[in-house]
Amino acid sequence: MPETTIVAGIPGVGKTTVLQELDSVAKEKKVPLKIINFGNVMNDLFKKSGKTIHRDHMRREDITLQSRIQQRAARVISKTPGNSALVVDTHMFVKTTDGIWPGTPRKVLEALDPNIIVLIEADPEEIARRRAADTTRYRDGGGVDDAKADLQWSRYMASANAVLAGVPIQIVHNRDGQQRQTALDLLDIIQKRN
Ligand code: AP5
Repeated sequence: MPETTIVAGIPGVGKTTVLQELDSVAKEKKVPLKIINFGNVMNDLFKKSGKTIHRDHMRREDITLQSRIQQRAARVISKTPGNSALVVDTHMFVKTTDGIWPGTPRKVLEALDPNIIVLIEADPEEIARRRAADTTRYRDGGGVDDAKADLQWSRYMASANAVLAGVPIQIVHNRDGQQRQTALDLLDIIQKRN
């Protein structure tokens, strides 16, 4: 039975970049891996429910609606066919207009049923620089202190998840220009748990 890895990282840490690299290194090494972006699944479900919105604006929607879509997204992902190990690209928390909200609350966690949680981290200064330089996205909070606080929230939420799911947490560092090495470290962790 293929296992599920939850990979989370705060906005600007380079999550998409590392996961694109992970896809390439997994193909090079012929490791069957399926990477699913939780935000994409939610965005499709928003569209199907008649709301076409930018992915960076979903977090500003009514929290009850977000919660409903979030749970549906987890159920859709849990039914992913095939035998490849699953990597779910998501967030430990989302900054909504109601406050800091868990990305994987109990029902979502149960549906995803991960065997490990991996946090992608980077130096707060690098995160702040990447957020400022990336004009393609709508990001909240651009300073170093914001990045530090977000990194802490991500670890708090990961701890709660690990306790609920009874799974380990690993942290990989996405250093400047080192996205391939980060992806290789991540692949190593995934392979050890599969
Ligand atoms: P999602 O798509 O996951 O958004 P995001 O975190 O804002 O952004 P990315 O994953 O695209 O990545 P990133 O900012 O870490 O990095 P990037 O590679 O672009 O989620 C979208 C939305 O979905 C959320 O806001 C939320 O509303 C919703 N959602 C998701 N999961 C949810 C859940 N479980 N529950 C509820 N809602 C959920 O990199 C940033 C920049 O840095 C780029 O310019 C890049 O070139 C650069 N960079 C990256 N790595 C390096 C490096 N090593 N060296 C130099 N530059 C680098």
